[in-house]
Amino acid sequence: MSEIIIRPRGPLRGTVRVSGAKNAALPILAASLLGTSNTLLHDIPPLSDVENMLEILRKLGCRISLPAEGSVEISAGHITSQEASFEDTARLRASFLVAGPLLARFGKCRIALPGGCKIGSRPVDLHLKGFAALGAAVSVRHGYVEAECPRLRGAGIYLDFPSVGATENIMMAASLADGQTVIENAAVEPEISDLATFLGRMGAQVRGAGTDTIKITGVPSLSGAEHTIIPDRIEAGTFMVAAAITGGGVQVKNIVPEHLKPLTAKMREMGVRIQETASAALVEAGEELFPTDIKTLPFPGFPTDMQSQLCALMTRAAGTGIITETVFENRFMYVEELKRMGADITIEGRAAVVKGKRPLMGTAVSATDLRAGAALVLAGLCAEGETRVQNADHIFRGYASLPEKLRRLGADIEVQHG
Ligand code: UD1
Repeated sequence: MSEIIIRPRGPLRGTVRVSGAKNAALPILAASLLGTSNTLLHDIPPLSDVENMLEILRKLGCRISLPAEGSVEISAGHITSQEASFEDTARLRASFLVAGPLLARFGKCRIALPGGCKIGSRPVDLHLKGFAALGAAVSVRHGYVEAECPRLRGAGIYLDFPSVGATENIMMAASLADGQTVIENAAVEPEISDLATFLGRMGAQVRGAGTDTIKITGVPSLSGAEHTIIPDRIEAGTFMVAAAITGGGVQVKNIVPEHLKPLTAKMREMGVRIQETASAALVEAGEELFPTDIKTLPFPGFPTDMQSQLCALMTRAAGTGIITETVFENRFMYVEELKRMGADITIEGRAAVVKGKRPLMGTAVSATDLRAGAALVLAGLCAEGETRVQNADHIFRGYASLPEKLRRLGADIEVQHG
C-alpha cells in the first residue's frame, strides 16, 4: 500500500485543471457494451477504478486501445462472455453496471456481487428489482447475480430511493428493451444526464434525465459513439477546499458551476470567496472561516462524496458545526483519524459535531476509503509537522494525479509506493 507524505507549506496558489468525472466515466464505459460498433471516449481520468473497469471489459471480449492521452477506444462488437467474477468485481462497486448492458444485449449475465469502498452495506436490490420489472428472471446464488431474459420489455419502475447506480443500470437495460420504460424517483445527479447524452449518441431514446422521471423507448440495436466525459465535481470540490483550508487562492478550471452549487453555497456561507465564470472558479480564503451545518442528500442536496472534505475544512472554522450523513450509514470512519491529528469531533448517530479551531498536528493516519483519504490529505496541508496518509491506494482509485496537482499549487507532498 502506498503512503502520501505531506508537510505544511502555507497557502496554495495557482491554477488546476479538473479531470473527467470518475462517476460519469465508469457507467459510460459499461454502456459501451451496448454498442455493436466502436466507441471513442475523451477525458477519461487515469484512475485505478477506470483501469479495473477496462480490465473487466477486456475479459468480456472488448478490444481496447488508447489512441491519445485521456482517450479510450472500445470495440464491443465481439463480446465473448457475459460473466464477471468476484476477482474483478471486488475492486469496485461500479463493476455491477455491466449487468444491465449485458442482460439487455445478450439476454443473460452472471456477475459476482460487487465490492468497493466500505462505507455502508451497499446492496444492489434496487438494480435487481428493476431487471425483474423488465421481465428478467433474477437470482442470487453463491455470491453471483444471475439474470436471464431473451428480450427485455419496457415497464414502469418506481425506485424506493433515487439510487444513482440503479437508475443507470435500468436506463442502460431499458435502452434495448421492447417498448417504453418509465423510471420514477430516478436519481438526478449530473452523471445520470451525461450517461443519457452518451446513450442518445448511441441511438437510444432517453428523455427526462436530470429530472426524477426518465422515459426510455427501447430500440432494436445501438451503435458505438464518441463522447467527452463531464468534469469531476468531487475533484473540483476537493481543490476548492484545498484552497480554503490553506488560506490560499486557487483557480479551478474545467468545471460546471451548476454541478457545484450545493458545495459553493456552503463554502460561501463559511466565508470562502468564490468567483465563477462559465467553466472555472476562483476560490479565495476569507479573513475567517465560519462554521456551518450540512446534511448529505441525493443531488441537488449536499453530496455525500464531499462530506469528509468539508469536515476537514470545518475543523478550521471559528465555532461548532454539525454534519449529518443520510446517504451511507458508515461514512464517518475517517473521524477517528482526524481526531488523532487533534480535531475535536463527536459522533452522535448519523451526525458529527465538529468543534473548530483546534490545532491539527501531523501524524500517521490511515485512509479508510477514497474520500476519507482526500480529507486526511487536506488536513495534512494545514497541520503542524508531517502527516503520513497510509493506505493511499484508495485515493488513487478516484483522484487523478492528486499529489502532482497539489505540488504544482505549492504543496509539499510526496508519494511512497509500498
Ligand atoms: C454512486 C457514486 C458514489 C456516491 C453515491 C451517492 C458511482 C460510481 N459512485 O454510488 O461515489 O457516493 O452514488 O451519491 O457513481 N442502495 C440500496 N439498494 C440499491 C442501491 C443503493 O439500498 O440497490 C442504497 C445504498 O446502500 C446507499 C444509497 O442507496 O445507502 C445510495 O446509493 P447509490 O445512489 O446507489 O450509490 P452508488 O451508485 O453505489
